[in-house]
Amino acid sequence: MARTGFVAGNWKMHGNLVQNQELLDAIVLGIPSLQNASCAVCVPYPYLAQAQSVLKGTHVAWGGQDVSQYHQGAYTGEVSAGMLADFGCCYVIVGHSERRTLYGEDNQVVAEKFRSAQEQSLIPILCVGETLAQREANDTEQVIAMQLDAVIGLVGADAIKHSVIAYEPVWAIGTGKTATPQQAQDVHAFVRSRIAAHNSEIAADVQIVYGGSVKANNAPELFAMPDIDGGLIGGASLVAAEFISICFAAQS
Ligand code: 13P
Repeated sequence: MARTGFVAGNWKMHGNLVQNQELLDAIVLGIPSLQNASCAVCVPYPYLAQAQSVLKGTHVAWGGQDVSQYHQGAYTGEVSAGMLADFGCCYVIVGHSERRTLYGEDNQVVAEKFRSAQEQSLIPILCVGETLAQREANDTEQVIAMQLDAVIGLVGADAIKHSVIAYEPVWAIGTGKTATPQQAQDVHAFVRSRIAAHNSEIAADVQIVYGGSVKANNAPELFAMPDIDGGLIGGASLVAAEFISICFAAQS
């Protein structure tokens, strides 16, 4: 089965009701359909209802940027997968490097979040990636293997089938420094091979997207690589024209 493309916007902590409306309206207008590709925006929690009301029935899906590993209970400030599902989310990002670094999420917690998301039929977008120091120490594959193995260890390789993997080198996020297409391709191929060791069919089918300073002008060469199926987009997802052309670049 040929893989289809996928692009998700990660708005991070940006936006307000007025700006979001403008951005979402422009995206919907700009993406009446996509050929062999799909797209989504992952918005801050308070704007999920707004995203749902604007995007319902369009070609643009929506999702959250994080999810609790717990179903419910005394977890002040947390949001469960069931709550995301209540607002029509299809996707949720888990294990973004900003969550890992700034909020101390380790591989085990990320794996539990992945499981929580799937229990509510959400598609987790699992972020993996190395820091600059790890890359320079030649530890990239080892770091990514551990991030992946924690998830596979908890939920099993079959669960990878209903997920998206996002390779986001930490040194390329928000820095304007993009991995070269070949650097990204090498890691994507490694991720696929790691999954293939468990199940080659799932490895061949799973969408692996790249994130880290993807813009309209570099998306085509990145997405042209054989194992890069699209992107997870930060800054450029806040600019309608940029995001729309990145989505079109994921078509095949
Ligand atoms: P930038 O596209 O702003 O580098 O952010 C990437 C990212 O972190 C997406 O999750």
